[in-house]
Amino acid sequence: MKTIIEKMTEIISEAFVECGYDASYAKVTVSNRPDLCEYQCNGAMAAAKAYGKAPFMIADDVVAKLSGNAAFKSIESVKPGFINIILNGEFIAGFVDEMAVAEKFGYAPKSGKKTVIVDFGGANAAKPLHVGHLRSAVIGESVKRIQKFAGNEVIGDVHLGDWGLQMGLIIEELRDRKPELPYFDESFAGEYPTEAPFTISELEEIYPAASAKSKVDAEFMERAHTATLKLQSGDKACTAIWNHIMAISKEDLKKNYDNLNVSFDLWKGESDAQPYIPGMVQDMIDSGLAYESQGAMVVDIQEETDSKELPPCIVRKSDGAALYATSDLATILEREKLYSPDSYIYVVDKRQELHFTQVFRVAKKAGIAPQQREMTFLGFGTMNGKDGKPFKTRSGGVMRLEHLIADIQEACYTKIMENRTVEEAEARDTARIVGLAALKYGDLSNQASKDYVFDVDRFTSFEGNTGPYILYTIVRIKSILAKYASEGGVCEGLAVNKEQSVSEKNLLLALVRFLEVMDVAYEENAPHKICQYIYEVSNTFNGFYHDTKILGETDEDKKKGYIALISLTKAILEQCIDLLGIECPDRM
Ligand code: ARG
Repeated sequence: MKTIIEKMTEIISEAFVECGYDASYAKVTVSNRPDLCEYQCNGAMAAAKAYGKAPFMIADDVVAKLSGNAAFKSIESVKPGFINIILNGEFIAGFVDEMAVAEKFGYAPKSGKKTVIVDFGGANAAKPLHVGHLRSAVIGESVKRIQKFAGNEVIGDVHLGDWGLQMGLIIEELRDRKPELPYFDESFAGEYPTEAPFTISELEEIYPAASAKSKVDAEFMERAHTATLKLQSGDKACTAIWNHIMAISKEDLKKNYDNLNVSFDLWKGESDAQPYIPGMVQDMIDSGLAYESQGAMVVDIQEETDSKELPPCIVRKSDGAALYATSDLATILEREKLYSPDSYIYVVDKRQELHFTQVFRVAKKAGIAPQQREMTFLGFGTMNGKDGKPFKTRSGGVMRLEHLIADIQEACYTKIMENRTVEEAEARDTARIVGLAALKYGDLSNQASKDYVFDVDRFTSFEGNTGPYILYTIVRIKSILAKYASEGGVCEGLAVNKEQSVSEKNLLLALVRFLEVMDVAYEENAPHKICQYIYEVSNTFNGFYHDTKILGETDEDKKKGYIALISLTKAILEQCIDLLGIECPDRM
């Protein structure tokens, strides 16, 4: 359905046209002086130039045409030529009732249905998930949900880092620890065991140990490089070990992502792109796009409009090896072949921006993806500690994601137990949900590209712009509705009040903005716009709640209007947190 701003703009454009002015001047916006009016139209100011008239004369003309229009409680022209609007209570009530019964509250994006690949997560197999992977998972999950809500066909791909040096390191460390394994017996000709030669906890310990060893032991590093090359050229023993690493690592990653309430449609990785690489690079050489530079093969990506110099993209190293960019290009090739998406969204650390500029440009220059393909790099900033430096553990090491989650859930548990209204077991479960909300909201409420400070105390606070505050608001509404129902009230099929108190109308005005907010959040892939919005809705609801005796209202019809209003408030808040990948408990 149309947004309330679009509806008003329509009404006001008619008046502009009737007065002899162009309809395009009738743009309505939310008032930036809420003390004076709810909405405003500044079109007369712009029209004044075009028509050589004083702006207030135009505004006066238009307003005169609209006096008595049922949509407005008041519409007035204010010098030098603003049009200030206050909506009629009945008009906005009608709009809100329409939203309440419409699918997706009437949200319908302007663009048609697309197929979208969201590349997020990006964990590296066999390495523990750390906080650096948190942002990609949390932001990507929300972007994926927003895209789906907009009616798109969305494919989320975890795109694992599964083809790098870490594999060679693990293989060689395994050789040193268990040389008796058949993988290391050159003369072994039988079938390799189906059972992995390590458990997940061993694997978790093997990689850091191997990585540390490689830094002090050059011979070991050399072996790891060789093993990686052997794997990449299809060696049977290395491939067998790789398969074990992948199976175990994926299972563990799935568990971790599940705990975060993050999921993927595809569990592909860099390795899936490898078969496409030789042909793809050869095509770039044959077409003359790739040329030799210091033994490597490179593609120029500089464009005239660039304000700074951009280095060429290396697609093959001098030793013949493929690189990160090659692998991303081949991945696009495969995705084009298998899914032919309309658009790609990469949710990756913003420090990789140059890499993606190179990849996108080469993909189009080489015809791997057609010109019109939308390619978006959604780069995110760093999560810092309170000292303003990248987040570390107390001992200065890299914090593992599961420890971070456990910490924040523990903080929530303590708070919930302080309130002491629920049993211990329920408190644990609630703390799990609220903790996750604190963590995700703390992240998502910042514009993705900005760095932010991870602050457990602030994120877990039940007051202020936090996840727990939003959940607390929803829980409060749930409990009012439950009480109403327990007293025999029916919550469905009600209409909001056509005349409202100030704080009641503020809540209506906040709810109708949902449609505009969704437009922006979708167009800009911006979960933080949803956070801003639900914070505002929560504050507005709490203002209404403090002003109003909802269940104590003696006028039954009025009470029903309140119930309709808070039911929709709850539904919209729940929809919004779902788009953020956040869940809400029944009690807190
Ligand atoms: N594995 C990479 C890393 O840890 C992130 C992958 C991002 N996605 C991509 N298509 N390159 O940095």
